[in-house]
Amino acid sequence: MSSVKKVVLAYSGGVDTSICIPYLKEKYGIKEVITLVADLGQGEDLQKIRDKALKSGASVSLIGNLVDTFVDSYAFPAIRSNALYGGKYPLSTALARPLIAKELVATSREYNADAVAHGCTGKGNDQVRFDLAINALAPDLQIITPAREWNLSREEAIAYGEKFGIPAPVSKKSPYSIDVNLLGRSIEAGVLEDPMRAPSEDIFEMTSSLKDAPDLPQDIEIEFKKGFPVAIDGAYMSRKDILLKANLLAGKHGFGRIDMIEDRVVGIKSREIYETPGLSLLIKAHKELETLTLTHDLIDFKELIEKKWAQLVYQGYWFSPLKNALDGFINNTQEVVNGIVKIQLFKANATIIGRLSNNNSLYREDLATYSHLDKFNHKNAEGFIYMWGMSNKIWAESNSKYLKD
Ligand code: ARG
Repeated sequence: MSSVKKVVLAYSGGVDTSICIPYLKEKYGIKEVITLVADLGQGEDLQKIRDKALKSGASVSLIGNLVDTFVDSYAFPAIRSNALYGGKYPLSTALARPLIAKELVATSREYNADAVAHGCTGKGNDQVRFDLAINALAPDLQIITPAREWNLSREEAIAYGEKFGIPAPVSKKSPYSIDVNLLGRSIEAGVLEDPMRAPSEDIFEMTSSLKDAPDLPQDIEIEFKKGFPVAIDGAYMSRKDILLKANLLAGKHGFGRIDMIEDRVVGIKSREIYETPGLSLLIKAHKELETLTLTHDLIDFKELIEKKWAQLVYQGYWFSPLKNALDGFINNTQEVVNGIVKIQLFKANATIIGRLSNNNSLYREDLATYSHLDKFNHKNAEGFIYMWGMSNKIWAESNSKYLKD
């Protein structure tokens, strides 16, 4: 450990990452701590956080402008993948970790650092995601994780910081642990640790309550090209703006809140609250358009791939051969996912009310209709059913005693 001279620390401005700075110097004898705060659209004053790192003893304090890459290379592929961990969580926090890890590695190379560090504790998923991503991108790089070792209570952490001129936080600390980026907010701990206790309204910032959501429904249209959203209500926008707009629209109507029991990588179940209005909305719309444009067997099989994709991302395998291969499959399916989905937003619901694809719809009205325009050949059904049910009929003939109600 003592051979490390220069380290790049993933920095958030909170108490824990702030005291990492003197701790790395004092306990590890590291001369230079470079901090990196990632801009992921969390809407904080990053200059202030940057300055705090310098005051806490960092020799260089950097801000990584990662928002566009985050949206382009992490959020948008997750939309194509309809990625929902546990069938619910669109991975808003999990998607950010491999990108921060990548930036940490790049910065360590640029500044000739011999290690990277992060302030994750030993109980969460984020440590797993950081470590696996760093190991994949830079197997030679040492990872230092003070918060996995120091065993400090919050009070002790604050006292330790004060010894090194790091002021105790002025604002009362939120009773929750909250992670925020452009894709959403993850809220856990505090009273939420009781899984039966309903979340209080004040934990939400991106989504309206049922009471405050507008009393009138709003119909919107989202257009997709090759499985990526490109326009909302006919207005074409940058990818980032699509997400911002989707956040505003869904958030206003209170759509995108998630309250779940989640299976962490380390084997424990935890109670998590999320609000991911835009991402949840875009995934829902995308999935709908696939029902119109993909064949039934492809949809079925893709669901297996999607589930695995979400697990891999959740569990820290963003940079892995299996994830690469699944990306290949998913991307291959998206050429035809073109069209528009119409959604009604109303009181925490996003109800699909229409879908259209001019060139790639597999819906054939002349086959589906019950009117006189019907082109479906009804006679052929007889031969089809004769064979479709043949094996089952043979089984039933000799096993009638096993037939159940
Ligand atoms: N449980 C979520 C995940 O593993 C979010 C964790 C976010 N961190 C936090 N401090 N709330 O992706």
